[in-house]
Amino acid sequence: MSPVASNGNALEGQKPQAKSDRPSVEECLHGKERKVIIIFGQRGSGKSYLAKKLVEGENRLILYDTLGEYDNGVALFNVADFRSFFLEHYRGDFRCIYNPLQPEKEFDAICEYAFDAGDLTFLVEELDVFCSANAVSPAFANIIQRGRHSDISFIGVSQRPFGINRIITAQAKIIYSFKQREPRDIDYLCSFMGDEANIVSELNQYEFMRWENGKITRGKV
Ligand SMILES: Nc1ncnc2c1ncn2[C@@H]1O[C@H](COP(=O)(O)OP(=O)(O)OP(=O)(O)O)[C@@H](O)[C@H]1O
Ligand SMILES: [Mg+2]
Repeated sequence: MSPVASNGNALEGQKPQAKSDRPSVEECLHGKERKVIIIFGQRGSGKSYLAKKLVEGENRLILYDTLGEYDNGVALFNVADFRSFFLEHYRGDFRCIYNPLQPEKEFDAICEYAFDAGDLTFLVEELDVFCSANAVSPAFANIIQRGRHSDISFIGVSQRPFGINRIITAQAKIIYSFKQREPRDIDYLCSFMGDEANIVSELNQYEFMRWENGKITRGKV
């Protein structure tokens, strides 16, 4: 049986209750607005460590955990189990850690559940697996381009900026990057952040560059 209803609504027309006033992602750090956040950095640079901090207080959270790096939540391993769990819990609080067996194949189904439920945070590891430089699936594009209107915060994690679809970086409100060495990754960041983004090549261990509203700062968790 398809995990997604034939009308395309993963939740078959059931809509969640009125939005609660639960705290949103990064509320303490960055305010209440829902947003797209991207984290770049080489292997072992501290991306997932930072991502875990950002979602620490989230109580409506879906983690698309391709590398099995997260543990603070209910682990689910196939779309059928995710569906059962999600239909039961999506009106309330949940922290789902989805460990896909076939990450590319299962991604759109999880995007549809996330989009239909709304009012949640959706964190995706290995973002580069789910988009190419020229293509993003319609289900994923919905999250990226319309997610904020459904009260969805999206956090994408990827090693390299180069090759990430511009649709995604153009929607990003905040971009973190740990140290980058490859000229084309640095050039990609400079192409929309300006030359100041060259500091990514000088960052120390676990130090990140943070870009928001055209402003670049350096920091560490
Ligand atoms: N700010 C930090 N302070 C102390 N330890 C850190 C910090 N950031 C990361 N670490 C540690 O460094 C190691 C690598 O961090 P992390 O797993 O977040 O890297 P990553 O960028 O996600 O790597 P990968 O690309 O392999 O997924 C972990 O053991 C983590 O606990
Ligand atoms: Mg990681």
